[in-house]
Formats: sequence, C-alpha cells, structure tokens
Amino acid sequence: MIHTRRRFGRTLAAAAAVSAAWPLGVAAQAPRVIKFSHVVAEKTPKGQAALKFKELVEKTFPGRVQVQVFPSSQLFGDAKELEAVLLGDVHLIAPSLSKFDRYTKKIQVFDLPFLFDDMAAVDRFQSSPHGRALLESMTGRGLRGLAYWHNGMKQLSDNRERLLRPEDVKGLKFRIQASDVLEAQFRALGANPQKLAFAEVYQALQTGVVDGQENTWSNIHSQKYYEVQKSIAETNHGVIDYMVVTNAKWWDGLPADIRAGLAAAMAEATAHGNRLAHELNEADRQRIVEAGKARVHKLGRDDIAAWRKAMEPVWRRFQGEIGGDLIAAAQKSNT
Ligand code: LMR
Repeated sequence: MIHTRRRFGRTLAAAAAVSAAWPLGVAAQAPRVIKFSHVVAEKTPKGQAALKFKELVEKTFPGRVQVQVFPSSQLFGDAKELEAVLLGDVHLIAPSLSKFDRYTKKIQVFDLPFLFDDMAAVDRFQSSPHGRALLESMTGRGLRGLAYWHNGMKQLSDNRERLLRPEDVKGLKFRIQASDVLEAQFRALGANPQKLAFAEVYQALQTGVVDGQENTWSNIHSQKYYEVQKSIAETNHGVIDYMVVTNAKWWDGLPADIRAGLAAAMAEATAHGNRLAHELNEADRQRIVEAGKARVHKLGRDDIAAWRKAMEPVWRRFQGEIGGDLIAAAQKSNT
C-alpha cells in the first residue's frame, strides 16, 4: 500500500514537471530528428554550412526539430549515401555534383573541364533558370534538390617532382569521383583513372594505389593529401560544388510550417557557406604552401592552354548527353 502511494506520488511529481515545461494542452513529444550526412571534415565549406543549417533549424523550432549532422562519412560514405536518402535512412545529404550521373546526365555539365572561368561564373549559372531547373531534374527518381553549396575550383596533385604540363601525368593513376566525365578527362590525358570513395583517397595516395588526384584546396588540406603528394599544379581546371538533396516524398510530406522553416534555414545556411567557401579555400592554400611538403606549381598561360587543349575531346564526347543548350548557358555565365 505504502509502496503504491509512493509510486503514485512520483508519477504526480513527474506530471507536474512536464506541465511546467510545456504549455497547457501541448503534449510533450520527442523532437523530430533530421539526419544530415556528408563526407568531408567540419572545417570545410560544406561542413560549416551543414552546422549553420542545424543551428538555424534548432533556433526556429526549439524542442520540436533536432538536426543531427554526421561529417566525414561517419554515417554514410559516397557509395551508400544516395541510396540511403532514397530508403529514408538519412534525410539530407550534399554530394558533389560529380556524383549524380546515375540519376541525371544533365548535371554532368558541371564536370566539363575548363567550362567555368571562376566560382563567380559557377554561381551565376547555378542561379540562372537553367541552373535552378537542374535542382528539379531528379524528382522523377525520388530526389529533390534544395540548394547548391560551393566548395571551389579543382587543382591537380601527384607524387612526381614535375607537374606542369599534360605530358607529366601520362601513364599515372589518378583517383576520381564516380563520374564518367572525369574518367574521360583523365583518359584524354593518357592517365589511368580509378573511381574511389572519398574516404579511401588518403590511404590510396599514401600506399601508392594511385599516384594522384584532383580536388579543392579545402579538401587537399583537410584530408592531408598535401602530406602524401609531391606536387600540386594550380590548374583550376574544374569545379567541386554540391547539391543538397532530400527524399522528395519525405520533403513533400512534412507539415507545411516545418517545410517552410527548413527551406528558410537552408537559404540562410547556403548564403553563409557560399560566402565562406572562397575564404576557407584561400586559407587552406596558404597553409599548404607554408607547410612546404608538396610543391605548389603556379602555371603560366601556355601551360593552362596545353591542359585545356588536352582535355578538349571530353566536351565532344558528352555534348549529346548533356545538351548543347545547357553547355551554352553555362558558357554564358563566364561573362
Ligand atoms: C570528392 O569525392 O573528392 C569530393 O566530392 C568530396 C566532397 O564532398 O567534397
């Protein structure tokens, strides 16, 4: 009897604590959890934008929505993340634009070598009607694009002393992202491309499974590639940017107020990350130069012209799949 009363007393105390924390008539509910998985480190443009998104969402919906961010392929790596979104095992991911070619051939436009002069041109194209339309190009496959996030221009690195001209990479093995355009790009150079997940690249470079890779300053620094490469050529020959994607069915089924709040937080996190991207890449470039481990080769006009010419066949090969109109629209953004 005494035992029962004590238990009842505890229950009442617990109920009182709950009603003090929640307004009358609102039942205490566990927050809705949104999982955001990505493959890079936190101190990168994508890592920072994801954390900003979490901060903004949790400020907008205190106690109602929680965003869990999993960086560095902790939850899903390259091989599984798109599938995981489609299965509903994760809600948001932000793969690089090179990783969508199984879902749409159009997005391959971003991988064409020397298409964009700089990140300002990439930004103009992404904001154009053609760029915006690409966000919707995978809805038929269950993926909705919510935003483009910037990283930066790609540089080329390898384990040789000299890396100035296309002939310097002939016969070498290069890690590439899962993109047929990038495969064709390295074949055009007479090199051997190997598709590898991002999480495997450092070890592959360290053990000599591959000789080189292409990436942004931010990834070359945060993944420590500069410690296991001898040369980095400042080619700026392509771009690594991202599309934040979600499961279209999940997104469309969210309560309208939550969807609107998430969209607003996404817009603000995008602006924040895209503002930071250039600064982070420049700082990482400087750190790599100062570390003095890999030599950073600045290229002259003639060198760049030689790389451009060597990669030209890639355009001809993919023009049909991507569409001449889309390529022309992207080219226009250079002006
Ligand atoms: C890569 O695989 O090299 C990049 O796409 C990684 C990333 O997300 O920046």
